[in-house]
Amino acid sequence: TVLVVDYGAQYAQLIARRVREARVYSEVVPHTLAASEIISRNPSAVILSGGPSSVYAEGAPAVESELFEAGIPVMGICYGFQAMAHSLGGEVARTGDREYGKTEVRSVNAPHSLLTGTDAVQSTWMSHSDSVQKAPEGFQVLASSEGAPVAAFADEERKLYGVQWHPEVRHSPQGQQVIENFLYNGAGLTPEWTTGNIVEEQVAAIRAQVGDSRVICGLSGGVDSAVAAALVQKAIGDQLTCVFVDHGLLREGEAEQVERDFVAATGAKLYVADERERFLAALEGVTDPETKRKIIGREFIRAFEGAEKAVLAEAAADGAKVEFLVQGTLYPDVVESGGGEGAANIKSHHNVGGLPEDMVFKLVEPLRALFKDEVRAVGAELGLPAEIVQRQPFPGPGLGIRIIGSVSEDRLRILRKADAIAREELTASGLDQEVWQMPVVLLADVRSVGVQGDGRTYGHPIVLRPVSSEDAMTADWSRLPYELLAKISNRITNEVEEVNRVTLDVTSKPPGTIEWE
Ligand code: XMP
Repeated sequence: TVLVVDYGAQYAQLIARRVREARVYSEVVPHTLAASEIISRNPSAVILSGGPSSVYAEGAPAVESELFEAGIPVMGICYGFQAMAHSLGGEVARTGDREYGKTEVRSVNAPHSLLTGTDAVQSTWMSHSDSVQKAPEGFQVLASSEGAPVAAFADEERKLYGVQWHPEVRHSPQGQQVIENFLYNGAGLTPEWTTGNIVEEQVAAIRAQVGDSRVICGLSGGVDSAVAAALVQKAIGDQLTCVFVDHGLLREGEAEQVERDFVAATGAKLYVADERERFLAALEGVTDPETKRKIIGREFIRAFEGAEKAVLAEAAADGAKVEFLVQGTLYPDVVESGGGEGAANIKSHHNVGGLPEDMVFKLVEPLRALFKDEVRAVGAELGLPAEIVQRQPFPGPGLGIRIIGSVSEDRLRILRKADAIAREELTASGLDQEVWQMPVVLLADVRSVGVQGDGRTYGHPIVLRPVSSEDAMTADWSRLPYELLAKISNRITNEVEEVNRVTLDVTSKPPGTIEWE
């Protein structure tokens, strides 16, 4: 395992992802972990991430030099690079000059294995104000930039390396090469972390954890729960029962996808709870977004508990007990909830913190160590169809938060039809993998005048919200081709009687969120 020490900027997770892209397993640990604890975990290498601080700032996290004496290969990045220099007796100057953004870095001295395969002058992404003026004893300077006389260094003897720039960001085009050079050349690691291995490891771990107990798993129609369930199914077969609550807020074809395609691909036992009536009744007349979200969350838990009881009763009839519940928790959730910093509550995501308090199950979380792209790869490896594995994110509260205004069966029908057309055309254009997601929103309480044939219409507008994003934290609106937009607009206004206007949302996030509610 490669441990990435997180100095509090948003870069650590990205570094861990890049290391895994190099097919080496990595985890993020907080900088509050003592050097002795890091060493005791016996990592194959350590990467010190960037961070917001100056090594001279009050309370700036230091690196205990013990870490550099344990024979573990270490690479420092940006702040981590400066902290390494500082800790080993190099000279870090507070120049006050900020080097920020695209910066040229020039290799100096003989070509070094840390920079193998990169250009003598390479474009990098920098963000620092202090700079290393003098490398510590025993280090060789490898590169410099205008604002950083020492922009990269290495001590081959002790296997210590560092770069001032951020090799993990895409704005450093040769950054991945530098990371791989550290891993393969510096730390002598081999790329072995593959999807096949993940599946094998997880299957073994699940078997060891659950023994012959029964397990239940909720399916949402999304990628994560489907892949988690498929993994558990592979590990323990019929000991698993999947529960799918149909809340009636799904898009066209999605319930069928779970009921038919998922079962066909995995052979899992599925219990379907048709709860459409319950949700419609609970949502009747409600327009406030947060209230809608809370109602959907609450009803979901109740419906799930009801389904759970039925499954438990069935198991009990066989003399078995259900002890475990599968959750599709991903690695970023784990890192973020370990971070501890309270983020502002912008929207209450219904599946976070939504577990019943008196929950009696133990959790099985086979995706806890994985990033989203790895989850998709595992899903494909397990034979799940592309429609499930490549699915764009879809919020738990579903179409309930894409109808602006109260939710009714009629409004759901209108939105489902418009959404199906938009998705169909997006897929047909081949651009569906380019956009992160494209919510289709019905402004149910807004009406506008139109003309169709010889008659006046008074219908509802539909909003298209295609966005591009890396992680949904920030997003930009996608510049879809006009022809595609025209086609979607024509078809929706022709085929969905109640809609006479199609509009495009051209707001980034922030200030807009991706969903409208
Ligand atoms: P926003 O609208 O906050 O959405 O920019 C960010 C991402 O989260 C999805 N989303 C949700 N996912 N439960 C979920 O599972 C929710 O309650 C929820 N609300 C928003 C949204 O689709 C986008 O991908």
